[in-house]
Amino acid sequence: MFSDLRDQFSRPLRDLRISVTDRCNFRCPYCMPKDVFGASHAFLQNNALATREELVRLVRVFRALGVEKVRLTGGEPLLRTDLAEIIRALKHDLRVPDVALTTNGWFLEKQAAALREAGLDRINVSVDSLDETRAGVMNGLGFSVARVLRGIDAASAAGLPVKINCVVQRGMNDDEIIPLCAYFRARGHPLRFIEFMDVGTTNHWRQDQVAPALELIARINSEWPLEPAGPAYRGEVAARYRYRDGRGEIGIISSVTEPFCKDCHRARLSADGKLYTCLFAARGHNVLGRLRGGADDAALTEYIAGIWRGRKDRYSDERAELLARHESRPKIEMSYIGG
Ligand code: GTP
Ligand code: 5AD
Ligand code: SF4
Ligand code: SF4
Repeated sequence: MFSDLRDQFSRPLRDLRISVTDRCNFRCPYCMPKDVFGASHAFLQNNALATREELVRLVRVFRALGVEKVRLTGGEPLLRTDLAEIIRALKHDLRVPDVALTTNGWFLEKQAAALREAGLDRINVSVDSLDETRAGVMNGLGFSVARVLRGIDAASAAGLPVKINCVVQRGMNDDEIIPLCAYFRARGHPLRFIEFMDVGTTNHWRQDQVAPALELIARINSEWPLEPAGPAYRGEVAARYRYRDGRGEIGIISSVTEPFCKDCHRARLSADGKLYTCLFAARGHNVLGRLRGGADDAALTEYIAGIWRGRKDRYSDERAELLARHESRPKIEMSYIGG
């Protein structure tokens, strides 16, 4: 009945990104600056977070609506103590075809093998710089990148395919593009460069801090010639390129200079169980509240289907027009919604 669910632009619902906690041990200034999210900042209370049982029920409903890929995010998802059990339930009870995780890598060295054993299919890890001092500035608290790199090795050794996410900020780390490519191509991990985005309300985003995708591709191409590779799946956010020498690939996530809203099949569930139909949506729909209020699966399915049918989000497509008119819209924080 719901297999042909479409939004107002005919986009199906295929991917669900779930923030399993709004907390993070890092304070990357482009996401959760420490002057704003200091000790006094009110994170969600534990009883506001969806429990494992609640998450599994919600994912079962999303599966019935067409979801095939679930990505667990945060905040930092490895801070959630029952993460492996959540993954096990998604893989073994719900048989979700693709269960992935996005992490800052700090706790990965210890947890990688258990996550793989629980059934995790793959993992994306953030690395913005290979330089200790700069990495410490970019994660806000001086955390060592060496430990993150060991976490990546551990994930790989445990059999997890790893992709690397690097947010590029002009004047900050754009001089490291080539060394980053060299490091990760030698280890066989696709590296994706992400244009710095105007998410949330605290990162003081300015267009001139965005290193445009085309410029990055040209720079890498002059070092190691590239050729375009098709998307690995419909609606993939990264545009993929292969090194012509056959030694690996890179990706570019160009949400600012080349938005990809027309193929956006993603819904997001915040840590407290609200459904957001866009990364830049100002308002969520309280799905968990309904579940806790006693709604059965059929009622939840109908509720979510109704929201998706009405969906018209295309923020990144509209950004240029808003900027030209010096307008902005209210937004929620990336760490709460899960990126
Ligand atoms: P794969 O499943 O491996 O393709 O991962 P992914 O790129 O979908 O997820 P990941 O969590 O690694 O996100 C990489 C970057 O893409 C992050 O900066 C996300 O915020 C951004 N991103 C993911 N989905 C969207 C989206 O729908 N819109 C926008 N604007 N950015 C997105
Ligand atoms: N712009 C682009 N990417 C961002 N991320 C966090 N904040 C931003 C931003 N302002 C990235 C993280 C992680 C992913 C979930 O989102 O680095 O790789
Ligand atoms: Fe934490 Fe990721 Fe945000 Fe950095 S980008 S503060 S690691 S949630
Ligand atoms: Fe999807 Fe919104 Fe991102 Fe566009 S801006 S790709 S609609 S999440």
